[in-house]
Amino acid sequence: MTPDELRQFRESRGESQAAFAAWVNAKLGRKYDNATISRWESGAERLPVRVAEFLAAASQRTACIIAVANQKGGVGKTTTTLNLGYALGELGKKVLIVDADQQATATEGSGLDPLEVQDRKGGLEDVLFGQTGIHEAIVKCDGYDMLPCTIALAEAQIKILLDPDDGRYVLREKLSEVLRDYDYIVIDCPPELALITVTALIAADYLLIPTKASRYDVRGIPLIFDTVSKIQRRQNPSLKVLGVLPTMFNRNFAVEQQVLSDLQESLGDKARIFQPVPRSTEIDQATYAGAVPLKMLPKSHPIGVYRTLAQEIVNG
Ligand SMILES: Nc1ncnc2c1ncn2[C@@H]1O[C@H](COP(=O)(O)OP(=O)(O)OP(=O)(O)O)[C@@H](O)[C@H]1O
Ligand SMILES: [Mg+2]
Repeated sequence: MTPDELRQFRESRGESQAAFAAWVNAKLGRKYDNATISRWESGAERLPVRVAEFLAAASQRTACIIAVANQKGGVGKTTTTLNLGYALGELGKKVLIVDADQQATATEGSGLDPLEVQDRKGGLEDVLFGQTGIHEAIVKCDGYDMLPCTIALAEAQIKILLDPDDGRYVLREKLSEVLRDYDYIVIDCPPELALITVTALIAADYLLIPTKASRYDVRGIPLIFDTVSKIQRRQNPSLKVLGVLPTMFNRNFAVEQQVLSDLQESLGDKARIFQPVPRSTEIDQATYAGAVPLKMLPKSHPIGVYRTLAQEIVNG
């Protein structure tokens, strides 16, 4: 990276030399100051090799944003978000999970206490409409970073609606500040196609739709596709459907297999159906214990399907 490229990269992050130094220090455990950055940018001092390598990788990184959504409740959105995020982390990817559901289950499932998040004003709601910077709110968890939320996110829905500058773009704007820090950003959406979900779809590159393989559960999927088409036409032409992920699948029930073939037939080439995640009481138990199942269960457990999904996503 030349001195000019370094300056341009820093400016693209919207940071002063001091803030940039703080970021590099936090990432590499160094103690550079703004004067050092200034010398690197003027060419008066050479960039250390380790810093040059880090900046070369960071300047190329632009996170791919995946929204995990389905207006149907209890279909495995949060379980998918956490396990997919964790599996991408295992593949060496830098991952941010965003909890955009006021139930805060992804927050709790990552071992964070929503009350503590509320006390320090570190929730998504504080980032979207408060004074908290996104970098400040992000918390390091085991395997991924997390932008948590609390029940107070419910109020943000009203603020999105009342924002004269179209609050539906605010999540996209905020995430643009961390795109270079991550390979993947996975957003856990609430069980509704309400404003916050639309806000997530406006920010996203891809939508992943978890569903149970029951007739009643798949019934709402065409509605999601209608919403996606509207958003593609009006706000986010680059939004794509990654696919449908059957969850809590019981392969011994012929009817579930039948529901999936009917679904694939009705979707045609609009979306693929991924390998189903089997139903397993151990997954539920791990969730109950407040742990990401993939982290807790043995490598041979059928939940390893989330690793296959992560690998397919990385392979493109
Ligand atoms: N493959 C699975 N096998 C068994 N239980 C599962 C599986 N996946 C998820 N669960 C359980 O099903 C319940 C609902 O899952 P989850 O919270 O992920 O759904 P959700 O779609 O996020 O729900 P909501 O709509 O309320 O946000 C949880 O108790 C979870 O542990
Ligand atoms: Mg959920």
